[in-house]
Amino acid sequence: MADSQGNDAQNGQPKGQYSGPRAIDPVEEHSHDDDPDFITRTRFLSGVAVAGGVVLTAAILVPIVGFAVSDSVKNPPDHWVDIGPMSNFPDGQTTSIAVSGLSQWSDARAFVRNKGGQLIAIWNRCAHLGCPVEYFRGGDNYVCPCHGGAYDSLGLVVGGPPPRPLDRFNVKVVNTTGQPVGGVGSVHGSWSTAAVGPTDHLLIGSAFSINQNQQPYSLHDPGEPVTGTLSNLYPFS
Ligand code: FES
Repeated sequence: MADSQGNDAQNGQPKGQYSGPRAIDPVEEHSHDDDPDFITRTRFLSGVAVAGGVVLTAAILVPIVGFAVSDSVKNPPDHWVDIGPMSNFPDGQTTSIAVSGLSQWSDARAFVRNKGGQLIAIWNRCAHLGCPVEYFRGGDNYVCPCHGGAYDSLGLVVGGPPPRPLDRFNVKVVNTTGQPVGGVGSVHGSWSTAAVGPTDHLLIGSAFSINQNQQPYSLHDPGEPVTGTLSNLYPFS
């Protein structure tokens, strides 16, 4: 029996349309909203966004934390080694001397520069990969035999691959009673020779790194820059 629109009164379909079983019934679609183990595209993209945020945050925080703790991680305690009377280090010269007894380096070589009223002690460890540099008195400069690193009289880079100047040792001069003389301390690793006598003794202390302006930094390993973008890649430097 048909209604007023012509539909079959029993099944609501237009009169005459087939209403029996079909060869392929439409597949019922399931929602996966309630399934925590099913990875939808939205969940996948959310996971990628969270992971990216974690990586980005770590990339920002690791160098900051490293910088904050770097001094306590790498700066050795002060330890002074007596390397002899000042008469061994004449005014106007750079003197090469082997140093034993430093806490971190069993055998190091220092170039003690006594010029212009100031003492500095330059470490012979190349700032590129650590080869021992040689001092040339004629040119008052340093050259590394490994890859041609070149440094001027203060150990500042003038050529080759070293990423920073030669490292230095702290220095101080003491009298026969062990009291510091002449200087105002081992600030920046240099010492004024204004009141230093030939019988006073020169002491060498912990090593530190510098930049091209001779500003001091905590000791860096060979190959590590102390300034610039690349220095941030060494979080514990
Ligand atoms: S180790 Fe000195 S230049 Fe490479």
